[in-house]
Amino acid sequence: MNHFEYIGGILHAEDVPIPEIAAAVGTPVYVYSTATLVRHFTVFRDALPKGSLIAYAIKANGNLAIIRTLAAEGAGADVVSQGELRRALAGGVPPERIVFSGVGKTAEELAFALDSRIHQINVESENELEALNAIAAAKGVVADIVIRVNPDVDARTHAKISTGKGENKFGVPIDGMPELAKRCDALPGISLKGIAVHIGSQITDLGPLEAAYRKVLDMLVALRAAGHAVDRADLGGGLGVPYVMNETHPPAPSLYGDMVRRISAGLDLKLAFEPGRLIVANAGILVAKAVYVKKGAARDFLVLDAGMNDLIRPAMYDAHHDIVPVVRSEGAEHSYDVVGPVCETGDTFARGRVLPPFRDGDLAAILTAGAYGSAQASEYNARPLVPEVLVKGRDWSVVRPRPSYEEMLGRDRLPEWL
Ligand code: LLP
Repeated sequence: MNHFEYIGGILHAEDVPIPEIAAAVGTPVYVYSTATLVRHFTVFRDALPKGSLIAYAIKANGNLAIIRTLAAEGAGADVVSQGELRRALAGGVPPERIVFSGVGKTAEELAFALDSRIHQINVESENELEALNAIAAAKGVVADIVIRVNPDVDARTHAKISTGKGENKFGVPIDGMPELAKRCDALPGISLKGIAVHIGSQITDLGPLEAAYRKVLDMLVALRAAGHAVDRADLGGGLGVPYVMNETHPPAPSLYGDMVRRISAGLDLKLAFEPGRLIVANAGILVAKAVYVKKGAARDFLVLDAGMNDLIRPAMYDAHHDIVPVVRSEGAEHSYDVVGPVCETGDTFARGRVLPPFRDGDLAAILTAGAYGSAQASEYNARPLVPEVLVKGRDWSVVRPRPSYEEMLGRDRLPEWL
């Protein structure tokens, strides 16, 4: 459910007609809906045991206005770099609601996390554990940690976003957990609070999640039996969202919540979750203009002014995004290859997509683009990063302006000797 709907044949974000934003800001432009963000967050939170920490995965969309919107609803943050940690803090997330994941946290990042007094660091290797202990001990503090385990479970999602198999770089093998817990006891800078797990993204089947969670909870029980005071289970993110209109939807948060409740009952655990996509994907669209509707030898191309540098998911993961006209038009539907202006054939949003007829200058909206859209954008082909707009009811505001060409050029430095 989202708040992008046609009113009188014109696509709106909440109460704002999209053409109004396109005219004022130009295209391409990302448009986000506050009501959708808040709805997704509250539906997810209400589906889970009361008191759970819902740490929004900043990587999905780190715009400060989005972070602030979610923080005001009580969201925490899952961060994976010093940059994201700084974003979370700047967006108003209290440090005690921040968790820090990632396989390659540097000494500088760990020190910054300790200084920021965040809720927990999700340690992903023995080396990181020793490094963190040394840094914490030198500062005279104790780091609250959970250890991210690799449960060796196949999330049955795209290989590039699968993280829970034994062959993946993430977490420590779950069988090594008892030894590592013992090691934690010997480290003065470490306080082991529990276990974390995250097996992948865009997961559309609860089976693998349940299998991974059961392994984690069994291990927690075993650690308690061995005398460790562990009471935190961070169950990660990964729940999928519908990308194709009218298709079977991934399991609803309520079913996910039922599963979590069922398997964690009676364990008296503090649960944490790290949803990213689920909160923000359907709360954002990418609005683009058809620069040219081009007749090719074999097929017709809808050449948009948005490209793979603005939304890389189709090129990178063969991801499907629905594409719709911003203004509904009459006339026979037509098959288009929807492409961008970037000089690669991979710069294709959709092949053979059947759409209402488009003419040069018409606006299109690429849907479900709020997660891993702007967050993964680049300036490839020297294209300015797309501006971002946040809508709330009848109000809207540019929450990240399009950089000027002067700003882009001004970042480079010419050496004196050149
Ligand atoms: N926690 C950890 C440790 C993660 O690595 C991730 C995502 C999340 C939480 C959030 O997962 P989500 O709820 O959003 O599925 N760029 C890819 C997705 C990469 C996901 C990376 N990790 C895409 O566009 O599909």
